Amino acid sequence: MARLMLSATLGAALTAFATLPPPASADDAQIARGQYLVTLAGCSDCHTPGALLGSPDMKRYLGGSDVGFQIPGAGIFVGQNLTPDKETGIGSWSSDQIVAAMRTGKTPDGRTLSPVMPWPALSHLTDEDAQAIAAFLKSIPAVDHKNAGPIGPNEKATVFVSVTLPADAYNAMQAAKK
Ligand code: HEC
Repeated sequence: MARLMLSATLGAALTAFATLPPPASADDAQIARGQYLVTLAGCSDCHTPGALLGSPDMKRYLGGSDVGFQIPGAGIFVGQNLTPDKETGIGSWSSDQIVAAMRTGKTPDGRTLSPVMPWPALSHLTDEDAQAIAAFLKSIPAVDHKNAGPIGPNEKATVFVSVTLPADAYNAMQAAKK
């Protein structure tokens, strides 16, 4: 009898458990942390089309910018597609490769990213936070968008360009407008 009651209680407990929502997995928490860090670090400003022009195209979130930053003598650097698209994004990169690019500027093809990409600041990310960002980037929808860059100093620009000018050159442009 005691045994019967016990199994009835256990059965009720199991039924109650089965109707509870599944507990959030560690991955969900890691991805949420990554999303929070990506938002704070402003990755979208330089990696979502339209963002630097005042209206980010959220359907192509982190799908690559349409504005390049010109560094005199070095070229024009464009925030790349960070979505898991295998052809145009970083879908074929491992989490460790994403972490290395963020913290050391080194990409899997051996290039060192321009410091326009703020990897010197991001080098301070802890392992846990850097892996959380990588996990979030792997969780977002893939966007098929091949964006330009880097564009060499003698190549033709194919994007909007944010240019660094000496004050004299800038002032001369303003004067020409008058
Ligand atoms: C101020 C603009 C800016 C911000 C903010 C920024 N990036 Fe970048 N990022 C760039 C530019 C520009 C490049 C390309 C640099 C180059 O080609 O040398 C780049 C390249 C990258 C790359 C290499 C992609 C590839 O295909 O080569 C990764 C990964 C990356 N950024 C991740 C991030 C993440 C994650 C954040 C936020 C934590 C972030 N970036 C914030 C501008 C930015």
